[in-house]
Amino acid sequence: MKDFYTLADLEKWDEREIRLGVIGDPVAHSRSPQMMNAALQHCGLQMQYARFQIAPDELEQALELFASHKFVGVNLTVPHKVSALGLMTETDDVAREAGAINTVRFEGEKRIGSNTDGLGFARAIHQEFSVDLRDLRVLLLGAGGGAGRAIARQCAIEGCERLVLVNRTFAKARELADELRSSFQEARVLGPVARLEAVEWKEAALRFQIANADLLVNATSLGMKRSDPPVLAASLLAPHLMVYDTIYTPARTVLMQAAAEAGARAANGLSMLLHQGALSFETWFDRDAPIEVMRAALL
Ligand code: ATR
Repeated sequence: MKDFYTLADLEKWDEREIRLGVIGDPVAHSRSPQMMNAALQHCGLQMQYARFQIAPDELEQALELFASHKFVGVNLTVPHKVSALGLMTETDDVAREAGAINTVRFEGEKRIGSNTDGLGFARAIHQEFSVDLRDLRVLLLGAGGGAGRAIARQCAIEGCERLVLVNRTFAKARELADELRSSFQEARVLGPVARLEAVEWKEAALRFQIANADLLVNATSLGMKRSDPPVLAASLLAPHLMVYDTIYTPARTVLMQAAAEAGARAANGLSMLLHQGALSFETWFDRDAPIEVMRAALL
């Protein structure tokens, strides 16, 4: 199997064993294949899962080719999660409400979109910090991206104490806050801050919000490339925080290092990768995922 395949490979496809994959741009860093292939082998399913490097303008054609090559399904990662929504023949409620898709199931020519990122995130937070989202004040960076939208929606479903939405393109954070407002009507004793806010990505505003948050989440794609600037100035982080970075390569991300220097607890996105992947597996095969096998393969 190659490290990753391209649209040109899909056009003359002869890898019959490969019936599942992850589509992204970039995608070479993805650890999904090692986890999914371990699960497939463990369950005696005679197929493989590979990486596909697909640019945004190639996505529609790639989805058509996957269906015609009888793929079972694919996962979507940056930058496809939001744009794929318009390319599905059916979308389940979770994906529709999140406004993003991370899992596609092919049924004949049908492409059925769903989203396991939100529940995967909630399980990851519980695993990493032994806390439930409903007890937390969450500050979410990258709220307008696909992963960010799913995480925000999950925070709303679980009734977290407080949710602060931050995005480089502020309008997306503001629109998302409007969509989620009805879930945050109930009053909580929080002091001089609102339960739900969209905030501009500016240092003074972030400093104030971090003082009123328990969990800081990076759901931007920043940190994927070595050349990326830090998500936040290290001086903004504080010891009371739990920091969750959805990025997982390198294992100790730049944000995690900054958190450790500030005395805060931090975790990378491998736990979210695991839990969203297990849920995707269940979507495709309608059976429990061998989660311990998948965890061991990732580590
Ligand atoms: P997907 O839909 O698959 O999640 P995406 O739309 O590219 O992919 O989302 C990536 C997220 O990372 C977005 O929140 C994006 O912010 P914008 O909505 O402003 O594009 C965020 N992001 C990407 N590069 C960033 C950067 N240099 N600084 C801050 N945020 C960034």
